[in-house]
Amino acid sequence: MQWFIVLSLGLAVFAPLSNALLRFQCSQLVIQRLDPLVNPGMVPSTHVHQIVGGSFNWTVATMHPKKDMPGESTCTTCSFSEDFSNYWTAVLYFRARNGTYKRVPQASQINGATGGITVYYMQDALYDQQQKSKVKAFPPGFRMFTGDVQARTKEQVARFRQNTYTCMKNAGTREPESLDFPKTTCAAGIMINQRFPTCWDGVNLDSPDHMTHMSYPETGTFESGGPCPATHPVRVPQVLFEVVWDTKKFNNKADWPTDGSQPFVWSFGDATGYANHADYVFGWKNDALQRLMDTPCVVNCPAANPKTQTTANMNKCSQNPVVDENIDGWINELPGGYQAQYH
Ligand SMILES: *[C@@H]1O[C@H](CO)[C@@H](O)[C@H](O)[C@H]1NC(C)=O
Ligand SMILES: *[C@@H]1O[C@H](CO)[C@@H](O)[C@H](O)[C@H]1NC(C)=O
Repeated sequence: MQWFIVLSLGLAVFAPLSNALLRFQCSQLVIQRLDPLVNPGMVPSTHVHQIVGGSFNWTVATMHPKKDMPGESTCTTCSFSEDFSNYWTAVLYFRARNGTYKRVPQASQINGATGGITVYYMQDALYDQQQKSKVKAFPPGFRMFTGDVQARTKEQVARFRQNTYTCMKNAGTREPESLDFPKTTCAAGIMINQRFPTCWDGVNLDSPDHMTHMSYPETGTFESGGPCPATHPVRVPQVLFEVVWDTKKFNNKADWPTDGSQPFVWSFGDATGYANHADYVFGWKNDALQRLMDTPCVVNCPAANPKTQTTANMNKCSQNPVVDENIDGWINELPGGYQAQYH
C-alpha cells in the first residue's frame, strides 16, 4: 500500500479505518550547518542540514527540552499551522567526475512549496489499512533521532526499521526500497523514507544518543506492529519523513564516476547511503496532534477540522542561514571539510 493509492482511492481503501493517518508538506525553513539536537550550541555544526517546521530562533543552536517550541515560533513552514515541530535531515550533494560538489535540491510534493519534507503521523505502518493502534501524542519537549551517521554497511543499519531510498521512475514510484543509494540514474529523482520507532519509555523526553528512550515493537518488524516492550510501553505515532531529491539535472552519465559507482553523497561524506538519518523535535500546539490522531481521517484530515495555512504562507516562513558559507557549489570539499567516503 502506497500513498498515491491512498490519495487516489482515499476512503474507499480506508473504509475500515478506525483512526488517523496524517500526511502533509512542510516547506523549506532553512538549509545550513546547524544541529541543535546532536550538536547543541555548536555554530556551525558538523554538517549541512535542511530544516523545516517552526520558525525557531536558530541563532543559539540549542533546543532545551524546557523550551516552549510553539511559543517561541512566530510561524511554521508546515501546512498544518498548529505544528511548530522541527524536522531535519542531512542534504545530498552530487560529486562530479572532476571531484567538485554541487548541492542537490529537494523537490516538493505539492505544487508551489519550496523543497522541504513530506511528514506522516500514523497509528500503524503506512500500508496498514486499519490504522487501529491507539497512540499517545508526544509530550512537549520530546525529541528523537533515527539512523547512524557512522554506518557504512548494511549490517550496521540492520537495527533500524528502516531508512530507505527509492529510485523514482515517475512521481508515483514507491518501490523497490534499498538501504543504500540507487546504483542507476533515477528519471524522477531519489526519494528517501525515514521511519522513527514507535514505542516510548513514557518517562524521558530525550536520551544521550537521542534513541534509547525509544524502541521498536517487541516482535516483528515496523510493518507488522507487534506489542511495545515492557521497557518502552507507550505507543506513539509512527513518524515518517519522505524527501524527494531532485537529481534529474545530475543524470548525465558522462559526469558520473568512471568506475561505475554512483555520484551522490550525503553532506557528511557518506557515499554508501547507509548513514541515512533524521531528527525530530516535537512542537505541536496544545493537544492538536492528539486530537488529529483520535479522529478517523486520512491525509489532510478534514474530519478533525485542523488549522491549515496556504502554501504561500508556508513558504513565507523561511529564514536566512545563521551560518554564512557557500553550501551550494561547485565546491572542492563539502562544508565542514568532508570528502566523499565510499566505505
Ligand atoms: C535570537 O537569539 C539571539 C541570541 O539570544 C538574539 O540576539 C536574537 O535577538 C534572537 N532573535 C529573535 C528574532 O528573537
Ligand atoms: C566540474 O564539473 C562540473 C560538472 O560538469 C562543472 O560544472 C564544473 O565547472 C567543473 N569544475 C571545474 C573546476 O572544472
